Amino acid sequence: MTEPSWTIAQKALANVDGAVAVLAEAAEEGGRVATDWPFDLKVRARMLRSALLAGNVEGWVAYDAGNIVADFTIFNPGEAEPLFGMAVARSHRRRGIGRALIATAVAWARAHGKTALRLRVFPDNEPARELYRATGFVDAAFQPGAIARADGTVADVILMRRVLMSD
Ligand SMILES: CC(C)(COP(=O)(O)OP(=O)(O)OC[C@H]1O[C@@H](n2cnc3c(N)ncnc32)[C@H](O)[C@@H]1OP(=O)(O)O)[C@@H](O)C(=O)NCCC(=O)NCCS
Repeated sequence: MTEPSWTIAQKALANVDGAVAVLAEAAEEGGRVATDWPFDLKVRARMLRSALLAGNVEGWVAYDAGNIVADFTIFNPGEAEPLFGMAVARSHRRRGIGRALIATAVAWARAHGKTALRLRVFPDNEPARELYRATGFVDAAFQPGAIARADGTVADVILMRRVLMSD
């Protein structure tokens, strides 16, 4: 088996801009992530840097050839069952990066005594639901109209959860 060309690194002030660019690409696709497109990348990066400094987010990015190609963010990492969000650049999907980021997050969560990891996914986001099912997450709740969109509408989401204490 050939070694992957990408590596995973801790989310840090220096890689926030690249992480936001990956999020922007996913937002632009529409219907994948909760972040609406368009958004101001500089404002978002500043908010993320502030959140990192305050300890309100935790996470990792994937690098390939010096470029950031994936982002994984845990929100409110002090909670017992924190929520996360993630995106992999279109150019780098289906190479195992999503799976590797989840494995990294699960190891972090176990090391920090978390009881579970959770995420919210749109019901029709099959690639993401498939990734989460493949990595041990199960549907925990259907949350109708839980996400407010920029156009004034609301979207349904599925809350998925992976319990960590017993596995
Ligand atoms: C969902 C997403 C993160 C998957 O990342 P990825 O790096 O491509 O995932 P991986 O290569 O690690 O795939 C792991 C497994 O997930 C499942 N999977 C991933 N993409 C899939 C797809 N397009 N169709 C079906 N299954 C898929 C498969 O079981 C896959 O295993 P396999 O390749 O051995 O069959 C990526 O498609 C993405 O960034 N999408 C846009 C943003 C998004 O939807 N984020 C999640 C919001 S909740």
